[in-house]
Amino acid sequence: MTVTAFDLNEDTHAQIDAMRGRIDACLAALVPTADTWPRQLHAAQRHALLSPGKRFRPLLTAFLAQACGIDEARQEAAMEVGCAIEMVHAASLILDDLPCMDDANLRRNQPTTHVAFGESTAILSATALLNRSFGVVARNGALDAEQRAELCDLLSYAVGTSGLIAGQMADLDNTGSASVSEIERVNRLKTGALFDFSADAAAIMSNSPAAQRAALKDFSRQIGLAFQLLDDIKDVLQPPEISGKTSGRDTGKTTLVAKHSMSETKAMLETYLANAKTALSRANLLTTKTLSALIDRQFSFLRDL
Ligand code: IPE
Ligand code: IPE
Ligand code: MG
Ligand code: MG
Repeated sequence: MTVTAFDLNEDTHAQIDAMRGRIDACLAALVPTADTWPRQLHAAQRHALLSPGKRFRPLLTAFLAQACGIDEARQEAAMEVGCAIEMVHAASLILDDLPCMDDANLRRNQPTTHVAFGESTAILSATALLNRSFGVVARNGALDAEQRAELCDLLSYAVGTSGLIAGQMADLDNTGSASVSEIERVNRLKTGALFDFSADAAAIMSNSPAAQRAALKDFSRQIGLAFQLLDDIKDVLQPPEISGKTSGRDTGKTTLVAKHSMSETKAMLETYLANAKTALSRANLLTTKTLSALIDRQFSFLRDL
């Protein structure tokens, strides 16, 4: 699988679709086939990982690395590290949907993993995906050993009790009286931590200067907040036939949507996005064209609000 060089003249949407194709092929090769024993476990992993998600995190990682000027020999490595992040994300969704958490039946227009395969298989397959994601980073021969060690270390923090898991815990504890800054803190952790890692990983793999890495951190913080806020808006406004997932799971929780009118919420989201774009322009990237198209595509729902 060869990742083509960054081509400023190529249509950006075609570039995104082509990268998505590569990501899907890479993901399919990263987990054992469904006829490999124990079959249920591998079928469940593939169900969760390969179902049609947006692949926003690996797309972001791959295009950020390209925009940071990663050398051509490492472009595929960047995409593969993005796929490791997607494995963590898929594991987090399996767990998030369990009856003891959000109790959701539908995800990506399919039954959730525990509905399709049972709770114990779902929990084991999430653990297996999470575990394997570190191996995918560690084995990447195109990266220096030092870079791989740093990435594995940072990924463990991004997933762990100062990252995604902490945010998920706090989200489950949400009693309905959180302040805006408390809600933003939870969103930064449960969703933002993987975005932070995506941006940081792109900077590390590209040997970015400190100023660029710092600007990308600001970018990822804002895009993580925006991403979760959009998800919360859709939870209220989109029926499952449209979103492909069980809706109304935030009812009773204090989210930014619950605390504000829809026009105020939209304004907050627009502020996050404007901040993200400002940070991106400060990052002194080779180009922001593909990244801007990726973000515009992700947040196109805003136009109809
Ligand atoms: C959903 O993530 C969960 C959040 C962290 C908001 P995505 O919106 O990226 O879900 P998929 O991967 O496209 O299904
Ligand atoms: C999911 O958050 C965040 C993690 C899985 C860590 P949500 O519960 O808000 O996401 P959806 O709406 O189920 O996709
Ligand atoms: Mg949740
Ligand atoms: Mg949920």
